[in-house]
Amino acid sequence: MKRVKIFADANLTVGKISPYLFGSFLEHIGRAVYEGIYEPGHPTADENGFRRDVLDLVKELNVPIVRYPGGNFVSGYDWTDGVGPKESRPVRLDLAWFTTEPNEFGTDEFIKWCRTAGVEPMLAVNMGTGTAKDAARLVEYCNHAGGTALSDFRRANGAEQPHGVKYWCIGNEMDGPWQIGHLSAEEYGKKALETAKVMRWANGEETKGGRDALKLVVSGSSNHEMKTFPEWDRIVLEHTYRAVDYLSMHRYYEYDETRAHPLEDFLGSADDMNEFIGSVKATIEYVRAKTRSEKRVKISFDEWNIWTQSAPRREPLWKRAPHLLEDVYTYRDALVFAGLINTLLNNCDAVEIGCLAQLVNVIAPVMTQQVGGTLRQTTFYPFRYAARNAVGETVRAISDSDTFATMYGSARYVNAAITHDRKKREVCVFLCNYDGEAREAELELRSFGALRASEAVVLSHTDLGAVNTFASPETVVPVQAELPVVEGGSRVLASLPPMSWSFFKFEYRLAP
Ligand code: AHR
Repeated sequence: MKRVKIFADANLTVGKISPYLFGSFLEHIGRAVYEGIYEPGHPTADENGFRRDVLDLVKELNVPIVRYPGGNFVSGYDWTDGVGPKESRPVRLDLAWFTTEPNEFGTDEFIKWCRTAGVEPMLAVNMGTGTAKDAARLVEYCNHAGGTALSDFRRANGAEQPHGVKYWCIGNEMDGPWQIGHLSAEEYGKKALETAKVMRWANGEETKGGRDALKLVVSGSSNHEMKTFPEWDRIVLEHTYRAVDYLSMHRYYEYDETRAHPLEDFLGSADDMNEFIGSVKATIEYVRAKTRSEKRVKISFDEWNIWTQSAPRREPLWKRAPHLLEDVYTYRDALVFAGLINTLLNNCDAVEIGCLAQLVNVIAPVMTQQVGGTLRQTTFYPFRYAARNAVGETVRAISDSDTFATMYGSARYVNAAITHDRKKREVCVFLCNYDGEAREAELELRSFGALRASEAVVLSHTDLGAVNTFASPETVVPVQAELPVVEGGSRVLASLPPMSWSFFKFEYRLAP
C-alpha cells in the first residue's frame, strides 16, 4: 500500500483558530429565508415562524456566526422595507435574482432568529444603491439605546434593548459587473472609508472606546480570476486600512465535466484556495507596510463553497421564493469541500471569519421541503466535524505527499489539517485522500504528550456521484472506523480508503 508521512509538533503552530471560522451565510434568495429558516404554518414552526427542525440542524452544525441579508441581494436592498408592522411592508422586485421580495422577514426577525439559534449576527450594508447615510442609520436602528426616531422605532417594533450588532460587511462583491451599483476600486475604496467612518460614529465610538467597537469588513475581490485581482484589494485597502478590521474573500469551486481533466482540476481546489489566501495575505502585508500601520487586517472568507454555476436557471421571473441554486451535493463534492475546510484551518493565522455560502436550500448543507422534512446533504458532515472539533490552534501538518497535475498547478494526494485543543488536551486530524488507491498514513505527532485515539470516522463511497435525497437521505454518511493504534504515544498508523475523508481524535496525558 502507498504510504504518506505526516509530521506535526505541538510547538509548531499556525495560529489560534477563531471561534468564527466555521460560520455561514443566509441571503434573501430562493428558498433560503422563506421555506428555509422561516415558514409560519410549518408543523415545527415556533411563535415567530422559525422552523425548529432547521434550527436543530443549525445547532448540530455548530454554526457560530451568520452573514445576512446578502450577497448580491444586499446591493439593491432598502433595509427600511423590512422593519415595522408586517402588513405595511412593501413587496419589491429583487433585481439581483429577478424574484419578488415580500419583506416579511427583515432585520429584527433575523436578529431574533440569531438569538434563538445561538449565533452571532453579521449584517451587510448596501453599497450598490445604498449610501453611507443608509448604513449609519441601520447602525443607529440596531445599536442606539433610544431617544431618536430610529432607535425608538426599533423599540416600538418589539426590541426594547439594542441589538448590539458588532460584525458588519461594507457591501458585497462591489468589483463585479453583475453587482447592482458596481464600482471601480477607487470609487468603492472612498465610499467604504466614508461609510466606515459614519457607521462608527453612529455607533458612538468616539466616546465608547474599543470594547463595543464595530468590526468592519471591506469587500475584497469576488474571486482571484477577476481581472482586477489583486489591484482591487490593494487600492481598496489603501483607502480603508485604518478604518476596517477585515478584508473579504469569496471563492466557489465546481466540477466541470467539459474540462479535459475534470476530476483532477476539481480535486485541486483546496490547494488553489491556499494559493489565493497566500496572495491576499501578501496584499494585506504590502498595504500594512505602505500605510505604516501596526494593526493587521484579517481575512473574512465570507463566501466559500462548491457551486455548479454553469447549471441552467429554470425558474420564471418575479416568483416569490423560487427553487434557486438548489445544488445537490455529491460524494465527490463532499471530498473537495473537506479539503477547503483544511485550507481554512491551515490559514487560521489570517482567516478569522469564514462563512459557508450558504446555509439552507441555496447551495447549502441543509435542504427543506415546504411543509415537510429536512435533509443533510453530503457536505453537511465534513462541516459538522470541523465546526464541532477544530478548536484551539492549528498545528503545521508537514507531509511528504506526492502530487498530481491540475489546471491550477500541482495538488497533493493527501491533504491534511491538524488541530490542538490545549484545554481539552485533544488533537484532531482531518485527512482527505484524493488518490484512487488506499493509503497508509504514518503520523508522527510530537510534543503533545502520550496520545490515545478516542475517535475515528471515515466518509467513503464507491460512487463519486452518490448523493443524499429525501427518498434516500443516508446514502453518504460518515461511519465510525477502527481506532488507530498509537505506538510510543506519538506514532500513528492509519489506513485511508481510496478517495475518502477521515477524521481522528486523540486525547493525551501530560508527561509527569
Ligand atoms: O452565494 C451566492 C452569490 O454568490 C452571492 O449572492 C454573491 O455574493 C456571490 O456571487
